[in-house]
Amino acid sequence: MPSTTEPTSRETSAARAQIGVTGLAVMGSNIARNFARHGYTVALHNRSVAKTDALLAEHGGDGDFVRTETIEEFVAALERPRRVLIMVKAGEATDAVIEELAAAMEPGDIIIDGGNALYTDTIRREAAMRERGLNFVGAGISGGEEGALNGPAIMPGGPAESYESLGPLLESVAAKVDGTPCCTHIGPDGSGHFVKMVHNGIEYADMQLIGEAYHLFREALGFDAKQIADVFTQWNSGDLESYLVEITAEVLNQVDATTGRPLVDVIVDAAEQKGTGRWTVKSALDLGVPVTGIAEAVFARALSGSRAQRKAAAGLAAGALADKPTDVEQFTEDIRRALYASKVVAYAQGFDQIAAGSAEYGWNLKPGDLATIWRGGCIIRARFLNRIKDAYDNDPALPSLILDPYFREAIETGIDSWRRVVATAILLGIPVPAFGSSLSYYDALRSERLPAALTQAQRDFFGAHTYERVDAEGKFHTLWSGDRSEIQA
Ligand code: 6PG
Repeated sequence: MPSTTEPTSRETSAARAQIGVTGLAVMGSNIARNFARHGYTVALHNRSVAKTDALLAEHGGDGDFVRTETIEEFVAALERPRRVLIMVKAGEATDAVIEELAAAMEPGDIIIDGGNALYTDTIRREAAMRERGLNFVGAGISGGEEGALNGPAIMPGGPAESYESLGPLLESVAAKVDGTPCCTHIGPDGSGHFVKMVHNGIEYADMQLIGEAYHLFREALGFDAKQIADVFTQWNSGDLESYLVEITAEVLNQVDATTGRPLVDVIVDAAEQKGTGRWTVKSALDLGVPVTGIAEAVFARALSGSRAQRKAAAGLAAGALADKPTDVEQFTEDIRRALYASKVVAYAQGFDQIAAGSAEYGWNLKPGDLATIWRGGCIIRARFLNRIKDAYDNDPALPSLILDPYFREAIETGIDSWRRVVATAILLGIPVPAFGSSLSYYDALRSERLPAALTQAQRDFFGAHTYERVDAEGKFHTLWSGDRSEIQA
């Protein structure tokens, strides 16, 4: 690739790399190798040179790498506008690296943060870099280690101009679906990391729903891991086809070498989290968007991790439990449909949050574009993202994904199963927080009247907070501690 601008004082003849990657842990190394395999010259930098050398020793044959030791050397190895991808652990480390790079770079250069940064940090960093004439791109990258090497989904935010120079590189290393790269310019400043955050929130919901389905098979139908793996394998050739369903089958088929038992049976049932799911819920609370499926998933991980409390509570009364389902085939199909319907709700809620974030920050995000780039490379990639893309192609202003004719029908087809699964789980004492809350969300959304009228009256009673009437304009207040007549507020 030719240099796009005239050489400057700091650009030397050694400046031949089109992209630099700093932070060479597994994700950083793999994405650097991915760039190299696509024919780019990649400058490498890591705080400890040993990692750089290890990468070169093991994978130097992947392409053209430039080994550097100091940040100055690293920056000097890059063509202009310089493009540096930071792949360090999100948090303070990122600020330190950005500062070092910014000091060595020149106006027009581009710093890309490919970590799971909090989008408000990205907004702050982008503004600070813009003041210094630098382009700052917060790019969500999904797909784990394998995706980084063979094609992740990439969600770059930041100045549109920077995408002109950066876009072709990112698109060439991103996953492709039907020839379309799973990478597009998302929008200004923190939008890329915001979208990645919601992606992860949906990932949490998806994983929790799969977990609940698995748990139902074990507890309600008495299946073992192998039997459940077979069900997931079969589901993966239908509407539920997705990366997470596929790996679920693989995980459930894995046998522990030490005990000979299914691996899943010897893993401690306490789920950890790095924080992106929690961020999604915090942001949704601020935006006022009910992402109930994602929230239940985050709380379910927290509950699973409360090991002392769980130990103390084990054996608490379950009450009289119902009999287990006898029609195994029917209940299996019920679970499949409940999973699909709940999954639709989780995505609908995630897309609502994206619309709300877009409005709040003036990002002008296009939900159809996100559905398009999430079809491949990322952890939530799934066959039904094509349907989501179609839904937004047909109506970019769709009020909720569940109102799209295809999804509406999918839910209508599955609704009886969904209710049976949730009701059965409750009667059997099996926790299904995400299935249950998704169904309640759906029921609430389609209800003509909600008990919120009572809430409003109570608020007016104790706090004179006023209410609106169904039959008149304006705000009203009842004189609760007086003669209880109504006045216009
Ligand atoms: C991805 C993943 C990735 C990662 C998360 C999971 O899109 O590639 O979401 O970002 O695996 O860090 O984090 P938890 O530890 O919170 O489950």
